[in-house]
Amino acid sequence: MLYSDQVMDHFLHPRNAGVIEDADGVGEVGNAKCGDIMKVYLKVKDGIIDDVKFSTFGCGSAIATSSIATEMIKGKPLEEALRLSNKAVVEALGGLPAYKLHCSVLAEEAVKAAVKDYYDRHGVAYDPHLFSGCADCEHCGYGSGGNSGCGQ
Ligand code: FES
Repeated sequence: MLYSDQVMDHFLHPRNAGVIEDADGVGEVGNAKCGDIMKVYLKVKDGIIDDVKFSTFGCGSAIATSSIATEMIKGKPLEEALRLSNKAVVEALGGLPAYKLHCSVLAEEAVKAAVKDYYDRHGVAYDPHLFSGCADCEHCGYGSGGNSGCGQ
């Protein structure tokens, strides 16, 4: 079977789908190649992700990866969310076909972009290297951070 049960479950029953109107941080990323767009909204309390939602216009894998990524960071400190790798997302989903790995990169990057937005809005100092990565990589045409295995 092409997709694991976890992928199908998160695709058919996405967790934390929606929008947080008064979010403390919002991250939006897109993949230039497939045209998919993912947006992550954070509510932060005392450095902890109190609530998180996502809206994704994209493939089933993009929906599944955003769904599980939000589950993985909810209730966690921001620093921990920054450590969420696309690899961990793929593992939690029981794997993805190779040509779909870039969808998980989108999830990692959307989370990072939302944390960065939170830091920017709240004047929190951070190491810019945390958010570099694919910015310099022409490989997948993605271009906004994270080079941890775009798989293309
Ligand atoms: Fe674009 Fe999956 S095909 S994110």
